[in-house]
Amino acid sequence: MEKLVIKGGSIPKGAVKLYAAKNSVLPILACCTLTSCDIEIANCKPTNDILDMLALLQSLGSKVQLDGDSIFINCQNLNTGIVPRQYAKKMRASVFLLGPLSVRTGLTKMGFPGGCNIGRRPIDIHINGLNKLGFDIEIKDGELICTKKFLSCGQVHLPFASVGATENIMMAASGIKGITTIKNAAQEPEVEDLAKFINALGGDIEGAGTHTIVINGGKSFNSIRYTPIADRIVAGTYLALAASIPGSDICIEKSNALHLQAPLKILQDKGCNITISKDAVRLKSNARQTARKRIVTRPYPGFPTDLQAQFMVMESVAKGQTTIVENLFENRFNYCKELKNLGANIKVVGNSAKVIGVPELVGNCVNATDLRGGAALVLAGVIAKGQTTVSDIYHIDRGYYNIESELSNLGVSIKRLTQI
Ligand code: UD1
Repeated sequence: MEKLVIKGGSIPKGAVKLYAAKNSVLPILACCTLTSCDIEIANCKPTNDILDMLALLQSLGSKVQLDGDSIFINCQNLNTGIVPRQYAKKMRASVFLLGPLSVRTGLTKMGFPGGCNIGRRPIDIHINGLNKLGFDIEIKDGELICTKKFLSCGQVHLPFASVGATENIMMAASGIKGITTIKNAAQEPEVEDLAKFINALGGDIEGAGTHTIVINGGKSFNSIRYTPIADRIVAGTYLALAASIPGSDICIEKSNALHLQAPLKILQDKGCNITISKDAVRLKSNARQTARKRIVTRPYPGFPTDLQAQFMVMESVAKGQTTIVENLFENRFNYCKELKNLGANIKVVGNSAKVIGVPELVGNCVNATDLRGGAALVLAGVIAKGQTTVSDIYHIDRGYYNIESELSNLGVSIKRLTQI
């Protein structure tokens, strides 16, 4: 078991280089099962969720290689849709395989997806959407069994614009001859990125990034090298840190400010000095920030739920009071109990949290409760006076590659220790 030990009090200064968004890379990897071609995914650091997905694909017969910042994958020898039990439960993203792997093999058998404990996270929208395309899905002995029946394209109207369900259906439809339209599709940049990836392979998808996506499926695919979009959530994490500490001056390289509009608007309104250039965002924080009255998480282009915890930390040291409303997941305030152990003044009632900013946080021992909540606790440790120890950091490693070296580059005193 590993933990992070942080000495608070430093002022972050320097550059952060972004890599491929893990929420883009995971569906892209699942999508590789549709083809036997060679795929290179560039500018990609293997966070633990990505490593788990690669191990899963290898267990099905795919060839995988990590070289520098690229992942090379070839699914020519993928010969089964039966996913060994231990893999599916490791991450939410395993559900992405239901569509493409079933198109490829005719039968997928896998356990229920795991992932962060941030809510019930049902998969009914995935299942109903795939049913519409002609897949039969039953649940037996705690496993999902998806069988290719009489595949047909057509229209799938999602009751909620689920990111994962949009991606799953889009991948499956790309492998089915004819035109499928997804209505009320999710508009997240990662959905658009997956469509760009499929189009680069030789597919034909229009409208990704809007609520209506049209997929002309059944095209033949070719080998490609693809660079996914940069991780907007990692970018937002470091921006929230810099905004919390007066005197900070950081530059997020390779970031696409368009994907960060809602968080940047909040940071700008609070008085941070933000400069946006072609592929970089620089943030300077000159004084203690004033609290934002209200932050509400919503589907894209609204404020992302994946930055809620990091912005909570920022508000917990701002001047004044903030209400943060979580609209996407039921249990996404679990980390607040730990944050309170560092001196934050937070009261959670239902899906909203009232935060009264305190002049300083004080170091303590805390446990990461989930991926983004864990990253938020690390930020809090950097801001806090004294030493903070964050345990259970395997949650953080799922989505941040060596968070300690990125923070060290910004001048933060942080080290990873292995607990015996
Ligand atoms: C993806 C992201 C996650 C992010 C979330 C919302 C990945 C790997 N993960 O998760 O980091 O927080 O989008 O931006 O890309 N829902 C159902 N039934 C379903 C599917 C979803 O009820 O079949 C509900 C969920 O429980 C949740 C809401 O819809 O309350 C949003 O979920 P969804 O958009 O599907 O998120 P994920 O794809 O799981």
